[in-house]
Amino acid sequence: MKTIIEPFRIKTTEPIKIISREEREAALKAAEFNVFLLKAEDCCIDLLTDSGTGAMSTKQWAAMMLGDESYAGSKSWINFEKTVKTITGFNHILPTHQGRAAESILASTLIKKGDIIPNNSHFDTTRANIEFSGGIAMNLLCDEGLETAKIASFKGNMDIEKLDRCIREYSVDRIPFCMITVTNNTGGGQPVSMENIRNVKKQLNQYGIPLLIDCCRFAENAFFIHEREPGYADRSLLEIAQEMFSYADGATMSCKKDGLANIGGFLACNSDEWEEQFRNLLIMREGFPTYGGLAGRDLEAIAVGLMEALEIDYQIYRHATMEYLASRLIKRGIPIVQPSGGHAVFIDAAKFLPHVDPLRYPGIGIVNQLYLEGGVRGVELGTVMFGTTDEKGRETASPLELVRLAFPRRVYTQSHVDYLIEVIETVWKSRNSIPGYRITYQQKYLRHFTCHFEMVE
Ligand code: F0G
Repeated sequence: MKTIIEPFRIKTTEPIKIISREEREAALKAAEFNVFLLKAEDCCIDLLTDSGTGAMSTKQWAAMMLGDESYAGSKSWINFEKTVKTITGFNHILPTHQGRAAESILASTLIKKGDIIPNNSHFDTTRANIEFSGGIAMNLLCDEGLETAKIASFKGNMDIEKLDRCIREYSVDRIPFCMITVTNNTGGGQPVSMENIRNVKKQLNQYGIPLLIDCCRFAENAFFIHEREPGYADRSLLEIAQEMFSYADGATMSCKKDGLANIGGFLACNSDEWEEQFRNLLIMREGFPTYGGLAGRDLEAIAVGLMEALEIDYQIYRHATMEYLASRLIKRGIPIVQPSGGHAVFIDAAKFLPHVDPLRYPGIGIVNQLYLEGGVRGVELGTVMFGTTDEKGRETASPLELVRLAFPRRVYTQSHVDYLIEVIETVWKSRNSIPGYRITYQQKYLRHFTCHFEMVE
């Protein structure tokens, strides 16, 4: 059959409601026009993030009942460690309560002031942790990753020439490690090819610089390699993931994504020296090294979830959801990042609202209008999230102005997506009257979570 179906049926439901337009207007105003400050129950289709928002399987819930809550050496930890080692092959696994905790330990131990950390694209928390430790987060994405309408298989690849130039310009001792993010969340959820990971590693080896993978969406990346890269169609997603990790010296992970869990993360590495440094901080900040801020039941749910994320039927269905939405938006002429990402569809806000200056945040204009029209919550990935501000308060726009519609895993059905398409189309038709915004309050790091906006007429 041509129709791709959800490879599961629904056993538990959670009610959602659509509140009235007047109620949404009042809610958005009370939230200072920042959708992060809305109540979740006031959002009918919540695509703010795919992080920690997925539905767990019956096997995961059953595993949770087996959670061993011993402080040290629990059975759940042993299951977790075994699974992560099977997938990644790393010698040392340190559990953390989520991805940014792993990033924080990594940055606090290995980065000194003025160090450079290259990546294809750093995500917001990664960049914030690096900067907080005095480092400089450098994005070395391939050029086609910035061309939203260009169709190419691996637009998340790192530009090897840019990497080489970066290493020559800043001397090796200022680069304690390099990262690569799979898939590239910041740039449209685009995948990184195996060839690129291999070449990045080869390049770094010449200088003795270690490679870490930010592997939040490693299973989605493995699926893209399976589908698009010659030589991988007959390999299992587990084998592909294992090969990806074989080129790295360590990884940071948020199990809230491809761990199919609601909380959790890990930091992993091969080096004994790094492990000792990481462990020192882990115990202080997260907990004993066999639970790292997680309950035994969380470790169990993650151990099952990581393997479920590598099931081909699950990935086929997940990808079909993105394709279904993307193809219908393209048909309506709505500008999106092409091809669709692994976890989200990204609207190109700069093309959608060409009349709104980047420093008036076109992405926020669209996000707020999606909420007002249909109670849909998306998120801006543009100048508010990734722009930079110098000491004099002068702002530089992000190279991409995107609105991300991120799909919680195994949560929404096709009719939810049909409703979403109708909402986006309505916003598209009214695009000429959508205003820009200005920020009236912001904090220094990760301002997008808490800042306040007002409309600029
Ligand atoms: N790295 C990437 C690529 C991410 O997408 C995220 C989280 C993190 C690290 C941090 O993980 O949230 O567990 O601390 N991204 C979420 C998002 C929040 O909405 O994309 P965390």
